[in-house]
Amino acid sequence: MDKFLIRGGKPLKGKVVISGAKNSALPCLAATLLTDETVTLHNVPYVKDLITQRRLLEDLDATVLTPELHTQKIKAANIEIYEAPYELVKTMRASVLALGPLLARFGQAKVSLPGGCAIGTRPIDLHLKAFERLGATVSLEAGDVVARAPKGRLIGADTFFEKVSVTGTENVMMAASLAKGKTTIHNAAREPEIEDLAELLNKMGARITGAGTTKIEIQGVEDLGAAEHTIIPDRIETGTFIVAAAITGGKLEIENCQPKHLQAVIEKLRETGVEIEERGADKIFVKCGGRGLRSKDVTTEPHPLFPTDMQAQYMALMTQAEGAATVVETIFENRFMHASELVRMGADIQISGNTAIVRGITKLMGAPILASDLRASASLVLAALAAEGETLIDRVYHIDRGYETIVKKLSAIGADIERITENLK
Ligand code: UD1
Repeated sequence: MDKFLIRGGKPLKGKVVISGAKNSALPCLAATLLTDETVTLHNVPYVKDLITQRRLLEDLDATVLTPELHTQKIKAANIEIYEAPYELVKTMRASVLALGPLLARFGQAKVSLPGGCAIGTRPIDLHLKAFERLGATVSLEAGDVVARAPKGRLIGADTFFEKVSVTGTENVMMAASLAKGKTTIHNAAREPEIEDLAELLNKMGARITGAGTTKIEIQGVEDLGAAEHTIIPDRIETGTFIVAAAITGGKLEIENCQPKHLQAVIEKLRETGVEIEERGADKIFVKCGGRGLRSKDVTTEPHPLFPTDMQAQYMALMTQAEGAATVVETIFENRFMHASELVRMGADIQISGNTAIVRGITKLMGAPILASDLRASASLVLAALAAEGETLIDRVYHIDRGYETIVKKLSAIGADIERITENLK
């Protein structure tokens, strides 16, 4: 398993270009299953989760033409298998995004039920309830969810999410695009990735309004067709690099980002004393204010509030801020696994239920540590960049799932980081 060796204490300086959003590219790739015509996606990040999603499409017999690394042309004309196998679903929960498109286009789909994952149980009951509202019968057979649309086509209906779900909203939006009649999604997720997917679907011929609000209306159409679309920049990667500049006392120009997609993060970081200047619609300049960082409390909430996917990175930053910060995680249980590793590096963090209290400023010292999930590993990299001495981070395959060429990007702005590849004998 690969590891990162980081020698901390160097302020990061220079320019970094943000990649396409993983969480947008995943549903957009799944959406290509809705048509037999070619869909071209640009700005697809080259990260492990996207490679897995592409493999899923290929397993279903879609043709993936990839003339360029970041452009994916997909033609799902010859689909005869309607099944996402456990082998793929267990490595990446987002494979459940195949369920909606397959069910809508072919009237049937089988997807393995995702098992428990590192950041909580993460059920898909809300996706399934919504499919049932659209007329599907859903059953559990030997660990697989099997969904069928009677007479082969879903029927538009009013659906209500008891809890805001990002991939749930996306799955239903895709399924309803080919349903007969109109679907309304109440209490829909409002993440920018939902709007991006709706934009792609509309380019393919769908009739979706209200994406980005809590009420999305979808007028079903008979079929969808070819389209070309550019994925939005990754707001979580953007936030991670802002914290990287702040935690090392550096200065960064962040390009190809969309500051409007991470206003809650930018506002919170400004409160702590990080200087963030938005330069036009797609650039950010960030530096750490001369007065040092102040602790500020944060609670994770669905968009447009502070994202759970930035909680771990924020916690790392708070170890370097004056005072005590309360960090409350409301989206996922068990999403504080980075805390014990940060403590090993010298942080003062106390956890009680879904609340962490981080007391700073603590001196972080390099140590051997273990990454437990995608965002936790980002938090550990940030802490290592600020720490004195060497940190060896094990299980970095987690970070490879969602951060494109992270070692290259960090090295280019002055970080001392190397990947150690272990060859299995
Ligand atoms: C997506 C993101 C992930 C992010 C999360 C929250 C993708 C590929 N992943 O995950 O990076 O951390 O949103 O912003 O976009 N829930 C249920 N039943 C369901 C579905 C969800 O109880 O059927 C619960 C979950 O356990 C969780 C909450 O609802 O507590 C929100 O989950 P959800 O928004 O669905 O997360 P994902 O879409 O899996």
